[in-house]
Formats: sequence, C-alpha cells, structure tokens
Amino acid sequence: MMRTRPLKVALLGCGVVGSEVARIMTTHADDLTARIGVPVELAGVAVRRPSKVREGIDPALVTTDATALLKRGDIDIAIEVIGGIEPARTLITTAFENGISVVSANKALLAQDGASLHAAAEAAGLDLYYEAAVAGAIPLVRPMRESLAGDKINRVMGIVNGTTNFILDKMDSTGAGYQEALDEATALGYAEADPTADVEGYDAAAKAAILAGIAFHTRARLDDVYREGMTEVSAADFASAKRMGCTIKLLAILERAQDGESVTARVHPAMIPLSHPLASVREAYNAVFVEAEAAGRLMFYGPGAGGAPTASAVLGDLVAVCRNKLAEAKGPGESAYTRLPVSPIGEVVTRYHISLDVADKPGVLAQVATVFSEHGVSIDTVRQQGHQDGGGDGASLVVVTHRAPDAALSGTVAALRKLDTVRGVASIMRVEGE
Ligand code: NDP
Ligand code: HSE
Repeated sequence: MMRTRPLKVALLGCGVVGSEVARIMTTHADDLTARIGVPVELAGVAVRRPSKVREGIDPALVTTDATALLKRGDIDIAIEVIGGIEPARTLITTAFENGISVVSANKALLAQDGASLHAAAEAAGLDLYYEAAVAGAIPLVRPMRESLAGDKINRVMGIVNGTTNFILDKMDSTGAGYQEALDEATALGYAEADPTADVEGYDAAAKAAILAGIAFHTRARLDDVYREGMTEVSAADFASAKRMGCTIKLLAILERAQDGESVTARVHPAMIPLSHPLASVREAYNAVFVEAEAAGRLMFYGPGAGGAPTASAVLGDLVAVCRNKLAEAKGPGESAYTRLPVSPIGEVVTRYHISLDVADKPGVLAQVATVFSEHGVSIDTVRQQGHQDGGGDGASLVVVTHRAPDAALSGTVAALRKLDTVRGVASIMRVEGE
C-alpha cells in the first residue's frame, strides 16, 4: 500500500547547521513533499540548552533527551548535527537499534568509527548518509560513491577545510594576521566548536580519511592520514611562495601507489603555482580534484562550510533517504573490499621548498648541496640572499628540490641541522600541483 503519512525526522543538534536544516525543512516543506511523495515532518529537536531562543522552531519540539526522542517509536530518520564523538556515536547507534536511518555531517566520528557505524546500518538494513561531512555543500561523497563506482580513482587532491582556506586567503590577499582571520571565520560559522580541529588539520584529515575510503574502496581512519596544520605558515612563507609564482593552501592529497598495492593519505600546507585552479579557491570555498582512470580529471568546487551550504547537503541526503524509505530500499553501504594498506608519509614522493638560515661565507652552498646529494635529493633551484635586516654574517638560502621521497627529504633536513654553518631550518614546505 502507498504510504501517505508523513516521514518523521528527529533533528539531533540545532546549531549553525541544524538551525539551517530546520529552516529549509520548514520553508521548503511543499517542495520537499512534492519531491519525496509524502510530507516530511520535523518531529523533535534535541539540543543541549533548551531555553535558548531558536527562531522558527516550535519550543514544544525541543528536548534535551535525544535518546528518548529516538526511542519514542515514531521517528523514521535522524539527522545528527551535534558533532564530536560522544554522544553522537551512541545516538546514531541508538537510531539504528530503533529502525531509524541516519543522515550525519559528522566527519570526526565517521573518520574514527565509520566502519562500525556502517556495519550497524547494514545489520539493521538502514541508511547512513553523510554528504555534508566532506566539503560542505559540494556534491562529492555521492558522486564518488555512486557516479564513479564503475571507474578506478587513482588520485584525489583538494582543499577540504573552509576555515583554513579562509585564513590563508586573508593572510595572502590582505596581509591579515592569523588570529584576526580565525576570529572572522569563527564568527561566520565556518570553524569547528574547537577550531584547533581546523587549524591543526584534524578536520581536513578526517575528511581525507573518509574520501580515501570511498576513493580506494578500503578502510582509512583519521590515524592513517599524515597531518600537519597551518599554524606555522608565516608571512615569510607567503613572500617566498610569491617569489616562486605560488601561493600556499592546506591540501588533502590521496594517492594510489604506482603498483596499486597501497595508498597514501596526507594533509599539510603546500605551495601551489598561481596558475593551478586550486590557487584561485578563495575564502571558505573548497575544491577537490578527482583523477579517475576512465573519466580523467574532475573538479568539484563550491562553498565548503557554513550553515546554509552544509544544510543543502544534509537536505539532499534527507530526500534520498526518504525516497529509499518509501521504496523500502537502502542506499549503498560501505565498500571496503580492497583492504589496501595506507603507507607512511616517508613513501610519498613530491617536491620541497626548504628555507635555511646559514652563515654567509665561502663554501656554505657547496656543503649544503653535498648533504642533498648524499641523501639522493636532487636540487632544482637555489636562491641565496643576505638577511634583509643587514643581520651580520647570516644569509637565507632557499632550496627547491626535484621530486624525492619524503623519507629522503627528512634525512636531508636532519643532516642539514647538524652542519655548523646551518643556523636554523626556517621552513619546509611541499610543492604540489606542477
Ligand atoms: P554547533 O556547535 O553550531 O551546533 C551543535 C549543536 O548540537 C547545538 O545545537 C548544540 O545544542 C547541540 N548539542 C551539543 N551537545 C548536545 C547533546 N549532548 N545533546 C543534544 N544536542 C547537543 O555545530 P555545527 O552546527 O557547526 O556543526 C554540527 C556538525 O556539522 C559537526 O559535526 C560539524 O563538524 C559538521 N559540519 C559543520 C559545518 C559548518 O560549517 N559549521 C560544515 C560541515 C559539517 P545547543 O544549541 O543547545 O548548544
Ligand atoms: N570547520 C569545517 C571547515 C566545517 O571549516 O571546513 C566544514 O566541514
């Protein structure tokens, strides 16, 4: 028999994202009904602070007891936009135990416990959708999970954190200070509850783990992703990047090894040429390149953070899950059959920009070049200049290498630090996108 009664939704969390989900569900109710086939009703809203005024939300729907909401027997779909590990994990599990499909935006949880959550959904014959967990509004998870399911993805490279892109963009284009730009990103609702997750690269690494799992049909967790944040990126790095015709972005890079037997997953700041499409990704926008064997290079671009853009992705999942419910069907689950190991960062091969403070005297360049050569790292360019403050007998030496394994570069840097003539390693940055 055709179902006519509404599908009931429990909204778990009503902050930056949840409040926009509720707003769109209300203002677009008629369109959503037409697209789904039955009305979709906001049946309860779980929050931490019940007395907070929430525009457009019927106070009678608000509760602090999310578990009771999920167990009351009439909920069809839960939207988890609380964030973090607990209580989100227990609530999602409770939803599955009570026959409720789940839409989540929670990359931190999916990167830590995706496998067990997928298993719980599978066991219950229910959906777990999470388009909003990666790259905000950009349709990326579904295209990779479904549209590219017949192809072989070899490489994914992109900007997947809006907050850090916003900060780096402001530092580069307006000379804004780090803290000032972070405060602005937080006020705009881009940053995580604890912005350390953004600036130290944990948020991007969680997204990288999710994307690696989907791209390579394997299991990748947050711990598998090599991670460096962007807090050390300085105005001097931007000046150096500019001299090379580059800018600096926090990139997530996932690669299948040449032999196809392993993958690498990393997040770190990198210099990219100004001519590269990722260089022109401004503010809190994200962009992701996907290289697939048959499709070639695809680029996904759009707003990567913020309430309304993220709610758009959540609503897309909601409609898909509603349609599945009505069809008594289930969307795709986890695909992890390849079981490819994630190799350590030492096996990554790329180019490097190394900035050294050295003694400005004869033979220093030769000494430095010898260390690179002894470690099998080939130098592309070297630029030396006296310290601009006229700083006595010191100079800056900037070395850009050809492609080399990360392990060889680490060995080189360790040896450089031991040279009497090298007074400090001011910065090491990978150079990508050439
Ligand atoms: P917020 O901090 O703005 O909102 C969190 C919500 O969860 C609040 O409504 C809070 O209640 C509620 N909450 C917290 N603890 C509990 C609890 N124990 N029980 C019930 N409710 C609780 O987060 P965001 O909306 O920014 O993010 C939500 C999720 O979406 C996160 O996983 C985040 O990573 C993800 N995301 C966020 C994006 C963004 O741009 N902000 C983009 C993409 C994904 P109260 O309102 O009472 O404090
Ligand atoms: N804090 C995240 C970001 C939100 O800035 O990208 C979107 O996932």
